[in-house]
Amino acid sequence: MTYEFDSRKYEKASAHQKEWGERLISELSLRGDERILDLGCGDGRLTAQLAELVPEGSVLGIDASSGMIEVAQKYRKDNLSFLLLDINSLDFKDEFDLVFSNATVHWIKDHNALLRKVWRSLRNDGVVRFNFAGSGNCSNFFAIVKTAMKKPRYAKYFSDFVWPWFMPTVDEYETIVRQFPFRDIRVWADNADHYFPDSQTMTKWIEQPSLVPFLKCIDQSDRQAFRDFVVQRMIEETRQDDETFFETFRRINVYARK
Ligand SMILES: C[S@@+](CC[C@H](N)C(=O)[O-])C[C@H]1O[C@@H](n2cnc3c(N)ncnc32)[C@H](O)[C@@H]1O
Repeated sequence: MTYEFDSRKYEKASAHQKEWGERLISELSLRGDERILDLGCGDGRLTAQLAELVPEGSVLGIDASSGMIEVAQKYRKDNLSFLLLDINSLDFKDEFDLVFSNATVHWIKDHNALLRKVWRSLRNDGVVRFNFAGSGNCSNFFAIVKTAMKKPRYAKYFSDFVWPWFMPTVDEYETIVRQFPFRDIRVWADNADHYFPDSQTMTKWIEQPSLVPFLKCIDQSDRQAFRDFVVQRMIEETRQDDETFFETFRRINVYARK
């Protein structure tokens, strides 16, 4: 299952994703001639930063949302291209020195299959570097959206709903990674809990991307009310004394070498 996102709204609502991604990029040690794959490149801003670091190499950003790829194209240049592609359909062989992904692979449910494809995509000595959501992430939003899904007005839309994310613990993820012959494996957690400066900023994040999988299931006539219920409850339950709004953001980091 893939989703269509509002890329222009995401560009404005993704300050904290960009902050994590920029830190990840700043910690990479690159020669400058690598070929890099960015899984779930979104609006392409971080992908463009990667391309700056490999003037003699190249970067390919892939994403399953056509709106995201459309917006990302503005960064396209000689060593940077974008492709509309579902990560689940990855089919590269011995092509990349780095498979990078920021704030994306929690949307992929089967990580055995994902890592098999990533392994195949990498050249020998190539590196995987992921940062994605882990256990404990978005605890307020998840509790509230689950309450909304159970309300009599909306329950009918979710009878065969498949929860869209995989957010493991470090131990669970390390067990998966260690099934592959990667070297130098490191899997670690990161607490990136966040205080949104105001309710509008939090609301933008709720709308893009968090509510997208839920609103997709609901009839047009009920969407606004479902959205309003979740947004209102989030505002009430996460408001702090200083008028900031708190949410848990728990990350899994992965480094491994082929
Ligand atoms: C939170 S955004 C992160 C974008 C970018 N990496 C960043 O840090 O700003 C997650 C991205 O993953 C993409 N995505 C989710 N599932 C995907 C899949 N199965 N295949 C490709 N892209 C996917 C979404 O379309 C979205 O652009």
